[in-house]
Amino acid sequence: MALRAAEVLRKNDMGGWTRAAPTLYPHQWSWDSGFIAIGLAHLDTTRAARELTLLFRRQWRTGKVPHIVFNPLAPPESYFPGPEHWISAGVFPDAPPAPPYTSALCQPPIHAVGALRIWEVAKERSEEDKDTALSFLREIYPKMLRWHRYLLTDRDPEGSGLVTIYHPWESGTDNSPRWDEALEAVEIGVMASYHRRDLAHVDDPSERPTDKDYARYIWLVEMIKRARCDEREIYKNHPFRVKDVLMSAILVLANEALLEIADAIEAPDEDREQISAWIECGRSSLDERWDDGLGLCLDYDVRWSRSLRARTVAGFAPLVSGGISGERRARLLESLDSRYFGGVSGLRHRPLPPSTSPSERRFHPRSYWRGPVWPVVSWLLWKSLAREGEESRAAEVRRGALAQISGGGFAEYFEPFTGEPLGSDDQSWTAAVALDWIHA
Ligand code: SER
Repeated sequence: MALRAAEVLRKNDMGGWTRAAPTLYPHQWSWDSGFIAIGLAHLDTTRAARELTLLFRRQWRTGKVPHIVFNPLAPPESYFPGPEHWISAGVFPDAPPAPPYTSALCQPPIHAVGALRIWEVAKERSEEDKDTALSFLREIYPKMLRWHRYLLTDRDPEGSGLVTIYHPWESGTDNSPRWDEALEAVEIGVMASYHRRDLAHVDDPSERPTDKDYARYIWLVEMIKRARCDEREIYKNHPFRVKDVLMSAILVLANEALLEIADAIEAPDEDREQISAWIECGRSSLDERWDDGLGLCLDYDVRWSRSLRARTVAGFAPLVSGGISGERRARLLESLDSRYFGGVSGLRHRPLPPSTSPSERRFHPRSYWRGPVWPVVSWLLWKSLAREGEESRAAEVRRGALAQISGGGFAEYFEPFTGEPLGSDDQSWTAAVALDWIHA
């Protein structure tokens, strides 16, 4: 499996950066690259570092790391919405000089976790790898610090510790029922017609978000373009503004990694104090989003001041952010094992939780984030359980995830009851997390 995983990453290598998948996603995606760096760390320190270096070269003046860096060589018909769609409004004032162009959205900040993994593996490998990794950390650290600061200022002007997203794509869990109510409240105005490209790359359209979802996705892009990507303007008027608990928890995890990087490069004490304060604030604000009835953490709709009630894997956010109290921790583990998630009867690979609980009326076993099992989510859970000292649970997740990949290949996601591989084949981040599990 390790050889096959390495081959997937090699095939998707576009010369210093990795496309997320061979045809469905022909560009560089932000959080995909963070996970890809974790896999590449086991193959080649220099190449792994380059994955993140190239992504961060496209960082915006605000500190934002864009959710897609578009490959200038990819044919325009390969992906929608591509660079021409984004720049039809003209060049955005805060964007870096182009080409390559980028999208104006962002995605969960897993990158510092990738950078730390590069360091951890390299320092065990050789003196030369260690030196390479250390100079990479020195170069990337200030950029990562700016990225995290952007998420906790522009994307959190209230200082709540929770990141606000402007589009379901920013969560990385596009059509999860987490976003249904907030999305339904978005009224679509007049916009140019468009042609979806994603459906041509899957066997069955039900594996992808619906046309109704897409209309709202494209309308939200239109709104951001019309606001010229002005953060203040968007924060005031945008029709989709939601505090994303999973993204906020990943930011806490990334801040923990950044703190270790700060130690490795002997960063100033003020930085370390700032990062520690972010971690603390993130954890306590996630605590406030706890729903005792569901035994999960819930997202919050800023526009309509309401909790977004849905039983999805994002509810395990406090496990990802860590530092949870005894009782809360026990409830979360109980939820994870329950008949709503890991204990659902008939699951092909127990205890891997479906992205949406089958008990949800909005559950769909084949549709993207409405039910399928995603290996990167299993990786996040595995990592979180191990960090909590839940070694045997973590080992079960790892075993299940490797069995799933062994049965269905490096698919983007899997049907929870049959184990059928869905979405794209040869998805880079699936290969990357498989490599990390193999080397664990
Ligand atoms: N996940 C989105 C897509 O499917 C974009 O980030 O295209």
